[in-house]
Amino acid sequence: MSSRWDDPMTTILGIETSCDETAAAVVSGGVAVLSSVVSSQVDLHARFGGVVPEIASRAHVDLITPVVAEALVEAGVDGDGIDAVAATVGPGLVGSLLVGISAAKALALVWGVPFVGVNHLEAHVYAAFLEEPDLEPPLIVLMVSGGHTMLVAMEDHGRYRLLGQTIDDAAGEAFDKVARFLGLGYPGGPAIDRLAMDGDPTAIPFPRAMLDDGYDFSFSGLKTAVINHVRKHPDVATADVAASFQQAVVDVLLAKAERAGRDISAKGLVLAGGVAANSQLRERALDLCTADGSMRCFLPSRSMCTDNAAMVAATAFWRLKSDGPTPLDAGADPNLGLPVLL
Ligand code: KG4
Ligand code: ZN
Repeated sequence: MSSRWDDPMTTILGIETSCDETAAAVVSGGVAVLSSVVSSQVDLHARFGGVVPEIASRAHVDLITPVVAEALVEAGVDGDGIDAVAATVGPGLVGSLLVGISAAKALALVWGVPFVGVNHLEAHVYAAFLEEPDLEPPLIVLMVSGGHTMLVAMEDHGRYRLLGQTIDDAAGEAFDKVARFLGLGYPGGPAIDRLAMDGDPTAIPFPRAMLDDGYDFSFSGLKTAVINHVRKHPDVATADVAASFQQAVVDVLLAKAERAGRDISAKGLVLAGGVAANSQLRERALDLCTADGSMRCFLPSRSMCTDNAAMVAATAFWRLKSDGPTPLDAGADPNLGLPVLL
């Protein structure tokens, strides 16, 4: 469908404030990243062992103006060069989301350009398109973040079928909880990833829940198994625990992704979300695609896997084309899901 937003050079300012990163980026034509600025609040939250919503909202208020200004300066554009302003509208922390949404709407009004509300989960999918514009559906998307673990069949732009999801903890949540228990700090994913490099992934046979059972996932039993094992064996090498835990998570994620790829004759496997930055998951996903031959593997660079605004601007490019601007009275939706086909 053609629309007045079909111009391949449409330049969009994207804003992301759904959790603990304040980010702004300028992206042209859905693929050319002119700038991408991410200011992490991780140091503010680390001593609490997780994100504190009120602290996050206040930090976004302090950071949003300098981060947006830096993104514009780095891109070498001012308001005249921006065709639309996009912001994540959900899912996420409501106070944090509102900071980005309000800033985006204000700039859209001042510059007289459309506002585009973006779904954060869809944005994680578009991180792959940013770096691989020739990606061709049907694709299997393994979406693994701090709040979500989903296996999605992407039939076309904006057309998603949910194959399965976690019935308890998200994969990133399991990494964060296990890391916290092991005293590795916050955020846990990168800490376990690093430590696992010195450990033996076959040292402890942790459970692989629901391995051959449909497309849903469960990680809370694995977390409990790790806690029970360490309590029973207080002298166990922490690196072995980290490596064995990580291996169990990656085994289940990739076994299901591979089966789903075969079931829908996918042309490619896309990893999305913060856990897609995991070294083992990336390495073994590549091996799987090489061995399979019929499926290509698309791994966004690590900085595009975790929260950023370039993926928000890229998603807005496609959504503006298909749906047009978002009304200015649209608000934040903390529980927004991926817009899946029924
Ligand atoms: O997508 P994201 O940045 O934020 C959400 O939308 O949730 O994902 C954050 C999650 C956290 O749970 C973090 O521990 C995990 O991604 N993560 C990782 C790695 N880097 C980030 N998990 C495993 N290995 C990593 N290298
Ligand atoms: Zn995210």
